Amino acid sequence: MRRRVILLGPPGSGKGTVAAQLKNECGFDHFSTGHWLRQEVARGSALGRQASLFLERGELVPDEVVLALVKDALSNAQADVGYLSDGFPRTLAQARAFDAWSSPRGLGIEQVIYFECSEALVLNRITGRRSCGSCGRVYHVTLVPPGQPGRCDDCAGELTQRTDDTESVVRKRFKIYLRETEPLIDFYRQQAKLDVVNASQSVDVMMSQTMSLLQR
Ligand code: AP5
Repeated sequence: MRRRVILLGPPGSGKGTVAAQLKNECGFDHFSTGHWLRQEVARGSALGRQASLFLERGELVPDEVVLALVKDALSNAQADVGYLSDGFPRTLAQARAFDAWSSPRGLGIEQVIYFECSEALVLNRITGRRSCGSCGRVYHVTLVPPGQPGRCDDCAGELTQRTDDTESVVRKRFKIYLRETEPLIDFYRQQAKLDVVNASQSVDVMMSQTMSLLQR
């Protein structure tokens, strides 16, 4: 199974949901730059204060800020343990800089799984999303409900709606995705690292197709 993997796709395509399951079932070292940034905002750190306006508006945090976070977190990573990223890289500049940093360290990306889905589907999923404030696990009020309403199944943390999950901000995030992140599909296809999963299917089907691709 490949161990250095990127999940790529629009907001709401299911990257976080599948990543959490892969972490539990396969022991992946999962990281989400969005989750890290929200933690910094909640802590009120200098970095969080710098990032908060970008998050609220649904805009991308500057490349150098995100790259510094990722390099710091992966500086002691081991090639065989690897990483599973959801939400990074999401600009060509981030992708190129990460290739240049990771390859000489033996941490180069082995596989990119692209979750393909439409804007209409994303809107429905994101407006019903609820996230755990403690561990970051995500649910959906009707599609992926928790056992007990408003409480996380894993840690009993409170489930809340993200401030950037309103319809107008999601539409903006989708536009930014098309402009800044979609070009990564061709970038990784040219490197022969890209595989595609139809993200309009159920979580179980997405999960099993992703597992098969990782083991191919
Ligand atoms: P981030 O947290 O990364 O958000 P995102 O990429 O916009 O993706 P989402 O978390 O919204 O969606 P997802 O694909 O993980 O879907 P999920 O599994 O939750 O980034 C937030 C912000 O941080 C950015 O806007 C930016 O400001 C900043 N940022 C982060 N990384 C950055 C970077 N690298 N550079 C610059 N800025 C960065 O699923 C969504 C919902 O659908 C859930 O409710 C779930 O339960 C449900 N669901 C999922 N799959 C299915 C399914 N198959 N069937 C039914 N329901 C499903």
